[in-house]
Amino acid sequence: MPEALIDRFGRVHNNLRISVTDRCNIRCFYCMPAGDVQFMNRKELLTFEEIERFVRVVVPMGVNKIRLTGGEPLVRRDLHVLVRKLAAIPGVQDIGITTNGILFSEQAQDLFDAGLQRINISLDALDPVKFQEITRREGYEKVVASIHAAKRVGFNPVKVNAVSIRGMTEDQIIPFGHFARETGVEIRFIEFMPLDADNAWERDKVLFASEIIERLSKEIMPLVPIGQRDVHAPATDFEFADGVGRIGFIASVSQPFCMDCNRFRITADGKIRNCLFSLEETDLKGLLRNGGTDAQIEQAVRASIAAKNEGHEINTAKFIQPDRPMFSIGG
Ligand code: 5AD
Ligand code: SF4
Repeated sequence: MPEALIDRFGRVHNNLRISVTDRCNIRCFYCMPAGDVQFMNRKELLTFEEIERFVRVVVPMGVNKIRLTGGEPLVRRDLHVLVRKLAAIPGVQDIGITTNGILFSEQAQDLFDAGLQRINISLDALDPVKFQEITRREGYEKVVASIHAAKRVGFNPVKVNAVSIRGMTEDQIIPFGHFARETGVEIRFIEFMPLDADNAWERDKVLFASEIIERLSKEIMPLVPIGQRDVHAPATDFEFADGVGRIGFIASVSQPFCMDCNRFRITADGKIRNCLFSLEETDLKGLLRNGGTDAQIEQAVRASIAAKNEGHEINTAKFIQPDRPMFSIGG
């Protein structure tokens, strides 16, 4: 049995995020540029077979959780076929997806049947006008329909990711609180991070978790922390004091959780990234396409993890935003 993927800080990496495309059918301003987007050439994308091979190499090193991301993962045709391949690999315990929900309701059953276990749907506003302001596209009703479809098909839990942006989403806090209580869907507020293509992020545009907790507690009912099942989960989870409605927070900016990080990623064009904010990446596609052996792939992963930095430096003057915006890294 090969050794686990442990970095210089003792962090064990069992959680792999796989971006399957950089394309997307909407244009969230905190991720995509306003103008034309140069997407990857389709030939650059790892095939399902290449992804499967990679996962078979890393599972013996202790990887047991996988999440598929994009761009929008569901614009990659027949994604359920990949889910089925990955679910069949012994040692893969958990497969999730993060989707914008536009195409999810029509694929929900196929994905569930293929072995998908977890679903996070991104929705930043419970209001079609604000939705369009943020995503620069229509589609609000489809996303809401997908949230309900996810529940109907049997996904449990269903989580909604809501990016919180100062000056823009304050009026969504209370509606989301009620939505969590009424639907049983967990809402996870994510602090806006400097990964936007337009480089317009500023600290002043981050709506902090602490403020959201305060408003929900004051205007609906106190929120109480719930025991964390998984210390590596980036979200801190709360529920309302009467036990109805769960709210989580991914406070990447105000309370970085880098010391508990157990994740690494591969981009759709086959680069290994040891952090969202990494400025360097390790080539994987070259190995996969030019006769690299499993041992060489394993070495590439180990080299990437060994080079992982202690944490992001968003809160320091030294911070440098990566060249790749969110859509081309994979959330
Ligand atoms: N800051 C915070 N969250 C972001 N996401 C995309 N870009 C950003 C950003 N700049 C979120 C998406 C999705 C998840 C993959 O990451 O809304 O829910
Ligand atoms: Fe698409 Fe997700 Fe980026 Fe929004 S955040 S533009 S849904 S990839």
